[in-house]
Amino acid sequence: MEEQDWAQVVAAAVKAPSIHNTQPWRFTASADQVELHFDHERALPVLDPSGRQQVISCGIAVEFAVVALAARGLTAEVDLLPDGDASDHLATVRVTGAHETSADERSLADAIDRRHTVRAPFLPQAVPGDLVDALQQEAARFDTWCKPITRSEEEVATVFLISRAEEMEQGDPAYVAELQSWMRTDPGAVDGVPVEAVPSGDPRERPSNWLIRDFVVGQRESREFRAAGDPDAPPPDVERPTVLLMGTTGDDHTAWLQSGRALARVLLRATAAGVAASPLTQALDWPDTRTRMQQRLSLIGYPQFLLRMGYPPSDPGAVSGRRPVEDVLRFETA
Ligand SMILES: Cc1cc2nc3c(=O)[nH]c(=O)nc-3n(C[C@H](O)[C@H](O)[C@H](O)COP(=O)(O)O)c2cc1C
Repeated sequence: MEEQDWAQVVAAAVKAPSIHNTQPWRFTASADQVELHFDHERALPVLDPSGRQQVISCGIAVEFAVVALAARGLTAEVDLLPDGDASDHLATVRVTGAHETSADERSLADAIDRRHTVRAPFLPQAVPGDLVDALQQEAARFDTWCKPITRSEEEVATVFLISRAEEMEQGDPAYVAELQSWMRTDPGAVDGVPVEAVPSGDPRERPSNWLIRDFVVGQRESREFRAAGDPDAPPPDVERPTVLLMGTTGDDHTAWLQSGRALARVLLRATAAGVAASPLTQALDWPDTRTRMQQRLSLIGYPQFLLRMGYPPSDPGAVSGRRPVEDVLRFETA
């Protein structure tokens, strides 16, 4: 492929969601392949010391590249960790042939530009069961399970652990400082989370059981938490999103990359069906609440990602920026 073709594929890949919109990646393209490398300069040492959530983010970008290639009629193979598990070279996407783009491939590729994290309350309309089945099948292709949180005791446990994790985070000045360093007020910002993309009110006062991450922590007086079973519990007409917990049997770089690839497919297929999502990953940030989630939900393996899904309101909130492709892509000539 020519350089401008790779630039277009990488432009699609970097639309991937990433934790705090850190975009922790660098790409190197040559004639028939593109490599994705982890960019440590964009690490989150407090929130994500193992790099798990950033590697997941990179896995999403890998799969967005595969989807973009398919839309151009190109078949690709992905080698994960070709230089070994400890390497920053997380993946190589290699073009191996050509095929006729299917309508399904085109619709997934079209969803790349339309997908955004929607933190606003969803409409009171359930996500269809057959779509959830399709998302589970999609994830299974990448050795990732996808468990809808439907039973009330599972919901209570998960909501409690999210609240608990949020409370721990808000009490940790290092976490708060790191989060604030990735918040952006400039509408032209090319990374980080725009303040307009997060709720301005207290997330605990939303009509939902599901506490989204509080991005403006430290800038509010109130520090009270509403845990499950609390007397201040929300009224019955609360938002009822579909919540999917995704996980893997292992918990190494390969598992993280595979769950990211699964998540990419889940998000694009959901977007193509008009369904939006926002991650709720606080409970998985910390070893304590992550382990307790494994125990309380009797999970086989490791939870990697929690996703709130539903139909978006007419104003889904601000769109986050991306670094220009030329800042993240370099070309290697043979
Ligand atoms: C691994 C991972 C974890 C995330 N965790 C959260 C979270 O806990 N709460 C949240 O509101 N958004 C979360 N996000 C969403 C990012 O903030 C979002 O993708 C980023 O700001 C870019 O915005 P976009 O998805 O609209 O393109 C997460 C994204 C990833 C990939």
